[in-house]
Amino acid sequence: MRKPFIAGNWKENTDSQSSVALAKAVAAGSAELARERVSVAMFPPFVYLQAVARAVSSFAVAVGAQDVYFEPKGAFTGEISPAMLKDVGCTYVLCGHSERRHVIKESDELVGKKVAAAIGGGLLPILCVGELLDERDAGKTEQVVERHLRTGLAGLSAEKMSAVTIAYEPVWAIGTGRTATPQQAQEVHQFIRGWLAKAYGRNLAQEIRVLYGGSVKPDNAKELMAQEDVDGLLVGGASLKADDFVSIIRAAV
Ligand code: PGA
Repeated sequence: MRKPFIAGNWKENTDSQSSVALAKAVAAGSAELARERVSVAMFPPFVYLQAVARAVSSFAVAVGAQDVYFEPKGAFTGEISPAMLKDVGCTYVLCGHSERRHVIKESDELVGKKVAAAIGGGLLPILCVGELLDERDAGKTEQVVERHLRTGLAGLSAEKMSAVTIAYEPVWAIGTGRTATPQQAQEVHQFIRGWLAKAYGRNLAQEIRVLYGGSVKPDNAKELMAQEDVDGLLVGGASLKADDFVSIIRAAV
C-alpha cells in the first residue's frame, strides 16, 4: 500500500516570521495524521529552511527544498548542494518544477542531473513532470510526460529509484484555478505507472508514489485522491493557508 503524501510548495512566498508560524500551524494541525497515516512535507524558500526545520523538529512532518544544484561544491555562485540541504534539515527536494523548467529555462538534462545528485546526497527527490496547454491540445501529453520521466530518471538503478516520488503537474492547471478533472489526472497517472513498470518492473512501480499538482484546494482534494493512481498532492497556493493545507491533509486519508 502506498502511503498518501501531501506536499506544500510555498514558492517565493512568506518571510522569516510567517514561514515559521505557517509551519508550526500545519505541524500542529496534522500531528495525529502525520504520525502514521499520511506523509506531510513543506517546501519553504531556501533561506527559511533551517528555521522551519527547527520549528517542526518535534513533529512527524518533513521539510524539503524547492530546488538543488547537482555539483557538490565549488565555484557555482548562488547554488545550493544536496549536502547543504541535508545539513539544514531537509528530507525532500523538488526537481524540475514547471516554473523552473519554463520560467528559469532548466533543461531536461539538468533536471536529471539534479535528481541523481539529490539521491546521491541522501535526499528524496520529487521529480515534477507535466505538459503545457498547447502540448495537451496537440495530443502530446504522454509524449512530454514520457520525455520528462526518461530524462529526469536517466541512469537510475532500481535501488535508487525507490527514493523517488513523481509529481504530475499539468502546467495549465498550476495557479490558474483550472484543476485537471480527476479522470484527466488518473489517465496520466496510470500512464506514468505503466511507464515505471516497463522501466523498473511491476513491483517497484506499485511502490512509487505519484502525486498530482495544479490548483488543488480543500474542495477538490478528496475526489482527486479517490483515483486509483493518485497517491498524493503537491499543493501550491492552498499550502500557504494552514487551515486549507490541513483540510487537504485530512482529505487524503
Ligand atoms: P498551485 O501550484 O496549487 O498554486 O496550482 C501547484 C504547484 O506548482 O506545485
